[in-house]
Amino acid sequence: MAEVLKVKIAPSVLASDFSKLGAEAKRAEEAGADLLHLDVMDGHFVPNLTIGPDVVRAIRRSTSLPLNVHLMIENPDKFFRSFSEAGADSIVFHVEAAEDVSRSIRSLRELGVGCGLSLNPDTPVEEVLGYLGDVDLLLVMSVHPGFGGQKFIPESLQRMKLVREEARTRNPTLDIAVDGGINENTAKMVLASGANVLVAGTALFSSENMAEAIGRLRG
Ligand code: DX5
Ligand code: ZN
Repeated sequence: MAEVLKVKIAPSVLASDFSKLGAEAKRAEEAGADLLHLDVMDGHFVPNLTIGPDVVRAIRRSTSLPLNVHLMIENPDKFFRSFSEAGADSIVFHVEAAEDVSRSIRSLRELGVGCGLSLNPDTPVEEVLGYLGDVDLLLVMSVHPGFGGQKFIPESLQRMKLVREEARTRNPTLDIAVDGGINENTAKMVLASGANVLVAGTALFSSENMAEAIGRLRG
């Protein structure tokens, strides 16, 4: 299935130079990125803090790329509207943080933004399979969330395969994203395992030539 779905590259601005976020967003756009991945952390769900809706709004003004907001926060529903109004095109929340996953999905649908569900490396994949037909994107974390620059967890490959297998019947056009430790070597393996959206921070923003780095990820 991954071979017929478009491969999309999503640079994660967590690894960009925060002193010039607008220029970094533009750099990703000009390099041929398909969407921009924005990591939101609350210091509770993950042991780190990042950005909120005001920063998303500022990035919105700097690029026309679709903005994919990855909420690594407790009580995600509380912030759906703020991020949507700030200009998010799609919002991803974590199955571990949601009180009622179906309700969260409905809330995002009502706001008219793309709906994504994510799971941490230690969460059984079975916890998300029942929702594959209801979301646009399933984001498999391939590191423990919280920080960029970590090493890809190889067991994630089997998890992606399982999700893609299950999606064949439930949602054949489901975007399956992978986030954490993606570089030109791990990209090959994840694309072969059924993912079609590659989130990459360090590998892209630390490259001298991002267009070439994106080309290497596409393979
Ligand atoms: C980690 C974030 C990722 C992070 C990936 O918790 O969700 O999006 O930016 O960074 P790299 O690509 O450096 O592993
Ligand atoms: Zn992320």
